[in-house]
Amino acid sequence: MDEFVCISPDVKLGRDVKLSKFINLYGCEIGDETKIGAFVEVQKKATIGKRCKISSHTFICEGVTIEDNVFIGHGVIFINDSYPRATAANGNLQTEADWKVERTEVKKGASIGSGATILSNISIGENAIVGAGSVVTKDVAPNSIVAGNPAKVLRYRTEFGDLEMSQQAAIPFLDLVTPHAELAQELTAVFQMALRTAGFIGGTMVEEFEKAFANSCGAKYAVGVSSGTDALRFALMACGVQAGDVVVTVPNTFIATTEAISQAGALPEFVDIDERTYNMDPARLGEYLENQCEVNSSGRLISRRSGRRVTAVIPVHLYGQSADMDPILDLAERYGLIVIEDACQAHGAEYFSRKRKRWMKTGSMGRAAAFSFYPGKNLGACGEAGAVITNEGGIAKTVKMLRDHGQATKYYHDLEGYNGRLDAIQAGLLHVKLDYLVKWNAQRRDRAAEYNRLLKSLDGALVPPSEPSWSRAVYHLYVVRTTDREGLMNHLKKAGIGTGIHYPIPLHLQKAYTSLQYRLGDFPVTEKAAAEIVSLPMFPQLTSQQQARVVEEILQFVSSPAARQQSTDESVTLPTAERTA
Ligand SMILES: Cc1ncc(COP(=O)(O)O)c(C=O)c1O
Repeated sequence: MDEFVCISPDVKLGRDVKLSKFINLYGCEIGDETKIGAFVEVQKKATIGKRCKISSHTFICEGVTIEDNVFIGHGVIFINDSYPRATAANGNLQTEADWKVERTEVKKGASIGSGATILSNISIGENAIVGAGSVVTKDVAPNSIVAGNPAKVLRYRTEFGDLEMSQQAAIPFLDLVTPHAELAQELTAVFQMALRTAGFIGGTMVEEFEKAFANSCGAKYAVGVSSGTDALRFALMACGVQAGDVVVTVPNTFIATTEAISQAGALPEFVDIDERTYNMDPARLGEYLENQCEVNSSGRLISRRSGRRVTAVIPVHLYGQSADMDPILDLAERYGLIVIEDACQAHGAEYFSRKRKRWMKTGSMGRAAAFSFYPGKNLGACGEAGAVITNEGGIAKTVKMLRDHGQATKYYHDLEGYNGRLDAIQAGLLHVKLDYLVKWNAQRRDRAAEYNRLLKSLDGALVPPSEPSWSRAVYHLYVVRTTDREGLMNHLKKAGIGTGIHYPIPLHLQKAYTSLQYRLGDFPVTEKAAAEIVSLPMFPQLTSQQQARVVEEILQFVSSPAARQQSTDESVTLPTAERTA
């Protein structure tokens, strides 16, 4: 052995390891064919895999595990103690006994650029790249490229090439790339499992997800179906809504709510929303039932408008916030109506029932509820999916039959159903993501609180969303109001900031519903909101720097007449109606 190479006898050296001069290795393990440059120190209990390249002047401390095929540039420093001190409490120099070594791992195929510093308790994912000079302060996702101090994701490497993160300055309305890149390994394992077992329809992936989702909603049953629209339609049918019935809902919702009513053979009628929550106003529901309906000689509640029997009500928990359910449930009980919750935008939102004196999850309060797992939802599939939630075994059983051609036993069709099952692959993917829902919702709530705080400086130029004391919203959307919406959206678009409108035309004024014969002015609160609402960027990974920029641009717009004039003069066309929610 070379006199300039210091290798203690307890080092486990693999086959064909190539060592340069002036290195110091003790108590560590180095895999086959790894190459180590000059002035590298590797401490005890550190492990380096096979075919790694460790460049000169790098320091690899105890607690570090480097897997196979990793590249480490020059002068990379690992740290294994978050709170290093020279002396112990008694004033003496610290010894090994005082240290608690923290672990760091560098997964297969990763590369770390020269001069990077890697703090402790960090995992650098498979094939990730850390830019030269970066300071890595938190886990690096597999296949990501990070750089800076603290290191941030620049883009992701996929088999299709590098996926650019939003340009440096652009802030997307919704970022669906980052969460999928972060979970890429777990999600691909689901595909691999489905391919290995050819379990594409039904089976344990679906059943296990259903159990876990029902549990997360505080309900007994979840039945996976092919979309939120089917979930609503099947829930209506399973709860006993008949062809020709009237189902009452709000005009401020996505058209799927009323499509499902029509597809179940019923007729939608509307009541207006509360101007603070944008959800069904219980007072308007009360007025509708009292003044626009009558009880006929057979004791049935009949709508004066259509002459049809009113049997159900669908409160929609829009934007991730529960409707005020206590008074709605009271009215439903008094008038004998079935309540079906449209919880398609409210996974994990909560409502404090003053009546039951406890917080309840949206979806657990009506006879049944519908959830959508459209990709952009708080819990989104990688395609179309939905679920019906209920506490009633009979309803769950009927929904199961409706989704599967009306059969409970293969080829014995008790009723005519639909092809509306949840794919096993989507169920598996949703199950992976369900574990992150609580964290993601908490991040959305944090982001909403940050927007609220920042928007205060605008002196009421924008109306932020309001969250009553009985609500714990999960901010599927962060919706503000302004009288110059188009100008603001144009200004933000030019600044590279995405926005949306949910929804620009209330359902009672949609061409598709001309036959319902509603008119402008029928639902003034909805109509006014539809002209003023705008949804700002909102997703769990939105950073506070991005939010600060959004609010800075808004401030610039509202405080500068010049900016306002320019954004109208240049008449940038509004974003095309890309479906985001
Ligand atoms: C309020 C509301 N209801 C129903 C649906 C229908 O869900 P899906 O798109 O999964 O059919 C959606 C989805 O966008 C929605 O937002």
